Amino acid sequence: MYFAVIGNFPEITLAELKLIDAKDIKKVWKHLIVFDTKKEDQISSLASLVKWWKIISISEIQNYVGDKKILWMEDKNQAVKFKKQLNLKRYKEVGLLHTDMDVKKKWIELIKIWAEWGIVLWYQNIKLYELADFEKPGRSMQMWMMPAKLTHTMINIALSQAENKKFKLIYDPFCGTGTTWIIANYLWYDFIGSDIKLWFALKNQEWWENNRNFHNQLFDFFDQDISKPLDEKLFAPLLDHETLIVTEWWLWPIIKQSTTAEQVYEYQRWVKNLYLQFIQTIADFYDKHDEKRPVMVFTIPVYIWHENIIQDLITLLCEKLKWNLEVVEELYKRENQKVWRKIMILK
Ligand SMILES: C[S@@+](CC[C@H](N)C(=O)[O-])C[C@H]1O[C@@H](n2cnc3c(N)ncnc32)[C@H](O)[C@@H]1O
Repeated sequence: MYFAVIGNFPEITLAELKLIDAKDIKKVWKHLIVFDTKKEDQISSLASLVKWWKIISISEIQNYVGDKKILWMEDKNQAVKFKKQLNLKRYKEVGLLHTDMDVKKKWIELIKIWAEWGIVLWYQNIKLYELADFEKPGRSMQMWMMPAKLTHTMINIALSQAENKKFKLIYDPFCGTGTTWIIANYLWYDFIGSDIKLWFALKNQEWWENNRNFHNQLFDFFDQDISKPLDEKLFAPLLDHETLIVTEWWLWPIIKQSTTAEQVYEYQRWVKNLYLQFIQTIADFYDKHDEKRPVMVFTIPVYIWHENIIQDLITLLCEKLKWNLEVVEELYKRENQKVWRKIMILK
């Protein structure tokens, strides 16, 4: 049995947990879940777990501690006892929901919930998310870069739906600054990106080549207006591999306090057309070649306090195309944003 601290979006976590065939999932508190899986070796690949731990017996603790120090959670008396018993130098208190750099690097974290002892085996990969979000030279908060952690979660959701687990390629048709590209390569997948404006991605190319260490997966970018048919030659690799499409579509423009309702409706109409054309472009490309359509995981904007027609129209189009659409009910939202995101899965 495993415990995990999760982030703010339980439904999104549930969608991601499918990747490890998690069973018996129970929510204990707002941020704490229990689950079981036969794929312990893959739990650490889940992005929406802040940290996870495994239940162990008290006699096993020594095996995990080795020459490390120990971290204690709630009960100081027990900590003092352990310190003596296990010959530890020190103990430290850390909140259940928090992670601590020191602890991550050097310590062993023990957690006791009810009568069960758990040993923390993984913390979320903040360094990777910082790299993808903030360290690349070509980036722009103005263009709604997809948060790297959300991107990682969406890739996992796509993977959980993939048929042949040995697919080779992730494609982002609105690649922007390349968040999907960086995470995809980091996870050992080849990547193709396209955009109507490749400026940001090209700016990050050299930087990524110098920073990616041993993650030498392939990547390539093409100029492509996604409302037009895909270029046959450039996009041939999509047909040669099992491809997963993971993307964040156009959310522009940023809605400000001063934005009027009329303007929001105008943006919605414009964005809506782009989305519908995009789905049609991908379906046409695969249908024309008699190939099975790929799994797509994408976010659409949800304009707060305004009628949201985009989801309905996508639903209608997918019914017409006989393409199975699933919606993750929870909205991904950040403080002070006027546009929230919804995750959709096409398969
Ligand atoms: C919200 S950004 C994507 C950001 C990206 N996920 C990232 O992490 O940087 C949307 C992208 O859609 C692109 N775009 C807008 N209209 C397009 C179209 N018709 N065809 C292709 N790309 C388009 C924009 O140039 C922009 O880079």
